[in-house]
Amino acid sequence: MLTPFILLSALAVHYVSASSASIVAGALTTFQYPPNATVVPSSYFPDENQVGYGGPTPTGDEAAAIETAPALSKVDDIYPLVAPAAADANAKEFDVLSYLGNYSPMKSVHSFGLPGASPLVPDGCGLNQVHLLHRHGARYPTTGGIGPAAFATKIYSAASGSGFSAKGDLEFLNTWTYKLGAEILTPFGREQMFTLGVGFRVQYGDLLKGFHDLPVFRTTSEDRMVDSALNFAAGFFGVRTYETDYHQLIMVESGGINNTLAPFEVCPNSNKAEIGGQGTAMAEKWIAVYLEPAAKRLAPMITGVNLTITDLFEMQLTCAYETVALGYSKFCSLFTEEEWTGFEYAIDLQFWYGNGPGQPTSAALGVGYVQELVSRLTQTRITDYNSSVNGTIVDSNITFPLNQPIFVDASHDTVIASILTAFNFTSLAANGPLPTDHIPVNRSYYVSQIAPFATRLVGQVLSCPASEKASHIRFILNDGVLPMTGIKGCKEDKSGLCELPTFIRSMQERIGEVDFAFDCNANYTFPTPDNIIDGRYPPSLRNGTA
Ligand SMILES: *[C@@H]1O[C@H](CO)[C@@H](O)[C@H](O)[C@H]1NC(C)=O
Ligand SMILES: *[C@@H]1O[C@H](CO)[C@@H](O)[C@H](O)[C@H]1NC(C)=O
Ligand SMILES: *[C@@H]1O[C@H](CO)[C@@H](O)[C@H](O)[C@H]1NC(C)=O
Ligand SMILES: *[C@@H]1O[C@H](CO)[C@@H](O)[C@H](O)[C@H]1NC(C)=O
Ligand SMILES: *[C@@H]1O[C@H](CO)[C@@H](O)[C@H](O)[C@H]1NC(C)=O
Ligand SMILES: *[C@@H]1O[C@H](CO)[C@@H](O)[C@H](O)[C@H]1NC(C)=O
Ligand SMILES: *[C@@H]1O[C@H](CO)[C@@H](O)[C@H](O)[C@H]1NC(C)=O
Ligand SMILES: *[C@@H]1O[C@H](CO)[C@@H](O)[C@H](O)[C@H]1NC(C)=O
Ligand SMILES: *[C@@H]1O[C@H](CO)[C@@H](O)[C@H](O)[C@H]1NC(C)=O
Repeated sequence: MLTPFILLSALAVHYVSASSASIVAGALTTFQYPPNATVVPSSYFPDENQVGYGGPTPTGDEAAAIETAPALSKVDDIYPLVAPAAADANAKEFDVLSYLGNYSPMKSVHSFGLPGASPLVPDGCGLNQVHLLHRHGARYPTTGGIGPAAFATKIYSAASGSGFSAKGDLEFLNTWTYKLGAEILTPFGREQMFTLGVGFRVQYGDLLKGFHDLPVFRTTSEDRMVDSALNFAAGFFGVRTYETDYHQLIMVESGGINNTLAPFEVCPNSNKAEIGGQGTAMAEKWIAVYLEPAAKRLAPMITGVNLTITDLFEMQLTCAYETVALGYSKFCSLFTEEEWTGFEYAIDLQFWYGNGPGQPTSAALGVGYVQELVSRLTQTRITDYNSSVNGTIVDSNITFPLNQPIFVDASHDTVIASILTAFNFTSLAANGPLPTDHIPVNRSYYVSQIAPFATRLVGQVLSCPASEKASHIRFILNDGVLPMTGIKGCKEDKSGLCELPTFIRSMQERIGEVDFAFDCNANYTFPTPDNIIDGRYPPSLRNGTA
């Protein structure tokens, strides 16, 4: 997510080894591997070609579990992470990791309102093509803004003076060290991507038979994005051959560069505090409400630091990040089930108003990917460049082939939330707008289900009956089949199917109604109250804006 930049090095500046208090001087964030190794002649470690004796290598046939298996294997394993427990909870009954919003590790979603629908290809249908859009795996905190590093800076700074001490549940802070890196994937994040690649090969590998050229998969240029794409490929193709089994397109993610997988780089309004930043502002209102009891409970356990509500929210973030980076965090059990439910809702507010249905730039941010999807589905090149689409990329059948049986694109949490808004998956928005003073009884928008680490949105193009040509499409988000009923013309269907021509027509209409130039660039103010539920600045309010 985009936040103002405060470099982590600020932490090093503030850090002074503790005097009276006993914070242990740690290596902070600078450990480097590998060490300066002695050079060993490679003749001692010949490679496989030089050694020979590889034995027989028959490959067998491709798997197609999404069509052949009787049941879906769910993602619910967080090995090697240790499931944290809430302060007042029985770990088995309350799964803190499911309440961490976009910091949750992806787990299979049971249902988005179509109970009984399965990602397995419906009886009588055949699979023609698959479109995978996934998020990167678990990462360290991004740099800047509030977060674990800011909290650590405050604690380290207090501990460097006199009069710092922590007791009770907070006693561990006396010896706690900040060990997190920034921006890049954690080892667990790499595992998530590798597992996604393996899983995708087992479920969809048979579609490889339809390729006549090497597949082109896309990601963006940030380190964690490239790392995610390569770990996916290593899982999908195998580490022995993945480098030559496909082409990896790396699209530049940087200010002013057109990139549908990082569209915020060309959408100024989405980066303005008073428009794109309103998700954070809405979340802050709620954070002040739900963390009040925790502030009262925990403040007496620490002297030398006045714990603010922001500190407490940062402590919850530290639980999330330490868990996915270090495998375990003592911060998790400081908070009750109710406070974790509150945290989850804060993230839901942040996304709803910042990147989802309630944000006036969301549909504009997501529409570029929708244009690309329509281009792929219709085998027609894009001709209008008036969104984040990059003509240099999509105008070439080398960098943007239209005829692949498998498409794989990697992106970010916020972008996936915007793309879902651009699609008009209104079932997710059914109970919006979201209040900031309480958690509503009926909810339909959970970020832990929409954009957790290693999120996967899978579009299946199907032929029903199997003997015919492609006739239907449906979308599966983190193993939950999405209802398509919000999309104009799509009928109710227990398997989430919509007729392909209807879907394409509706997406073309949506592309026509989303005004990228206005929503991303016009000088308007965030509507108050914000009743937007389709991610566009309300056309009815446009009079009087520049
Ligand atoms: C590793 O080698 C570099 C360059 O020779 C040197 O500057 C650095 O101090 C060495 N690091 C260690 C841990 O020995
Ligand atoms: C299109 O994408 C390429 C590769 O990412 C990039 O170098 C180029 O600057 C982009 N073009 C525009 C107009 O942003
Ligand atoms: C905490 O707040 C009290 C009361 O406002 C103030 O006197 C004290 O200096 C503060 N302590 C720190 C460490 O900021
Ligand atoms: C980049 O996007 C802008 C704004 O939508 C558009 O005017 C321009 O033509 C695009 N450039 C390319 C190379 O696609
Ligand atoms: C690109 O299109 C041209 C002309 O249709 C065709 O000859 C070529 O094989 C295509 N290349 C790829 C990589 O699809
Ligand atoms: C919640 O949803 C149920 C079922 O759709 C409905 O009967 C109930 O009135 C809703 N409650 C609120 C507070 O909206
Ligand atoms: C988007 O959703 C709204 C609300 O369900 C609906 O009125 C509109 O027709 C939809 N538009 C398209 C293009 O699907
Ligand atoms: C792009 O231009 C086309 C044709 O002028 C128009 O129909 C469409 O609404 C525009 N799309 C966006 C995303 O602004
Ligand atoms: C945006 O609109 C406001 C209010 O109308 C005005 O004060 C401001 O100067 C405008 N900003 C720009 C960059 O046009």
